Amino acid sequence: MMNKKINKVLLLCSGALKIGQAGEFDYSGAQALKALKEEGIHSVLINPNIATVQTSEGVADTVYFQPVRTDFVERVIEKERPDGILLSFGGQTALNCGVELYEKGILEKYGVEVLGTPVQAIIDTEDRDLFVKRLDEIGVKTIKSEACGTIEEVQQAARDLGFPVILRAAYALGGLGSGFCDNEQELLVQAEEAFSFSPQVLVEKSLKGWKEIEYEVVRDRYDNCITVCNMENLDPLGIHTGESIVVAPSQTLSNSEYHKLRALAIKIIRHLGIVGECNVQYALDPRSEDYRVIEVNARLSRSSALASKATGYPLAFVAAKLGLGYGLFELKNAVTKTTNAFFEPALDYVVVKIPRWDLTKFHGVKRELGSSMKSVGEVMAIGRTFEEALQKGLRMIGQGMHGFVENHEIKIENIATALHEPTDMRVFVVSKAMKIGYGIEQIHQLTKIDRWFLQKFKHIVNIDQQLKEFSFISTFIGTMEKTELLEYIESPEFVNLLHEAKVYGFSDFQIARALGLEVLMSMEKAGLTVRSWRKELGILPIVNQIDTLAAEYPAQTNYLYMSYL
Ligand SMILES: Nc1ncnc2c1ncn2[C@@H]1O[C@H](COP(=O)(O)OP(=O)(O)O)[C@@H](O)[C@H]1O
Ligand SMILES: [Mg+2]
Repeated sequence: MMNKKINKVLLLCSGALKIGQAGEFDYSGAQALKALKEEGIHSVLINPNIATVQTSEGVADTVYFQPVRTDFVERVIEKERPDGILLSFGGQTALNCGVELYEKGILEKYGVEVLGTPVQAIIDTEDRDLFVKRLDEIGVKTIKSEACGTIEEVQQAARDLGFPVILRAAYALGGLGSGFCDNEQELLVQAEEAFSFSPQVLVEKSLKGWKEIEYEVVRDRYDNCITVCNMENLDPLGIHTGESIVVAPSQTLSNSEYHKLRALAIKIIRHLGIVGECNVQYALDPRSEDYRVIEVNARLSRSSALASKATGYPLAFVAAKLGLGYGLFELKNAVTKTTNAFFEPALDYVVVKIPRWDLTKFHGVKRELGSSMKSVGEVMAIGRTFEEALQKGLRMIGQGMHGFVENHEIKIENIATALHEPTDMRVFVVSKAMKIGYGIEQIHQLTKIDRWFLQKFKHIVNIDQQLKEFSFISTFIGTMEKTELLEYIESPEFVNLLHEAKVYGFSDFQIARALGLEVLMSMEKAGLTVRSWRKELGILPIVNQIDTLAAEYPAQTNYLYMSYL
């Protein structure tokens, strides 16, 4: 039942857009404001960033374009006298500010109730030392680590744990200040940087190369819990989730691994007493079912925005309602309008998230990817197969790529090094390596990318190879009558191959380039030529068959239509 005493709520946002804390928090904040409006609660927003949706007319009832700092927030509280405050919709900025307001006794002074996840639970997840202790209480494994406050402590901790280690700053996001150290020298440099971001630095054993898996979990105040989405990083542990290609749902986990990590996530969220949404990040040993919990973010995060769009489950909206006191069983899923919020979405499609970098903007910037974020955005693609979603996504990142193959040539000095030391061009380096004959095992040893994903990459390269074997067709264009040409195009081998290429995400232009049409005509014309052949052959997206299907199976078709677009 909703807490009736709440009539005015203060929402803290994430402030200026920056790497690791960008538009995703505008989305989560706007969703929370929508939930408050639906409940007729007066919303007060503190957000200095006018370039946001949430500060637009009519989204929040009152907006203060003030910095999210305790001194400014206190003055707003003094003036507005809100009954409650929401802390987990504004990234790390809102979370850290909320903890400070609590520790300074400002919330208590004005009788402001923290809605949703209690501050102690936030502190338990952000303070790396406390976090390990809390999970120890329920026998959940974390990575061997020591929380340090001085450089000397860091040096001692690294000696105790043994190199390689990773340094991670507490109360930070986007991996700010984190980095790997293989020796004492690197450790001192990294420690200097980490302490510039946070008073507490964690020295931790490096588990580079393990798999990285995430679960988005929601819990209400009646202890009802569901996992809304699980996601698998294509890039191994060591590359920040924000820098990784991510797939939802996970593709390489066994059923027992999937359910083991799901059950652990629910156990953790219950023990920490989270009310609302959180994400649990795991390291999973690729050779066994051994696992470690890397961190729990007790707030809406970049990955929860992705999970919401991937599953159609409005995480931020539901989390805000849970903060107001509702139970999961009392809420409808605002997207499906039919299902209840106490329902775990089941996906019969694949979602691929691909980061977008803009490193060429900065001179002298290191392009290597690591445990701290450099990406400035991300795209999400949906497909029936991993290959289809991947190629669609690669076309969308706006770097002039057409997919996993048939892109303009990229120059790479040393392929093996480029595979081992990933940069923002990683996926295209893998494509080139496969093209010049690197095998799956070789690439796996250099990248630690799971063999399942590499086999799927190889499948795309194979289809491309087969298309190239039909490039003789291009020599007939312009020399042969259309009817004669159609005979070749209508050959069952070519028709099946064309169909397979489309199912696995090839654009018409990629097919045209593989067939060698590009030498005869413009890119656009080449793509349109293949498109016209497909039309002739009836190789068309399922959406074009909806009308006939609709007549036969009205109910299913409705769902099908939704999931295709
Ligand atoms: N012990 C570790 N060994 C190897 N990689 C790690 C380890 N801990 C974290 N990482 C990597 O660093 C990234 C950032 O760490 P994380 O704790 O998630 O920081 P943030 O709060 O910035 O998300 C993770 O996504 C993971 O890939
Ligand atoms: Mg993280």
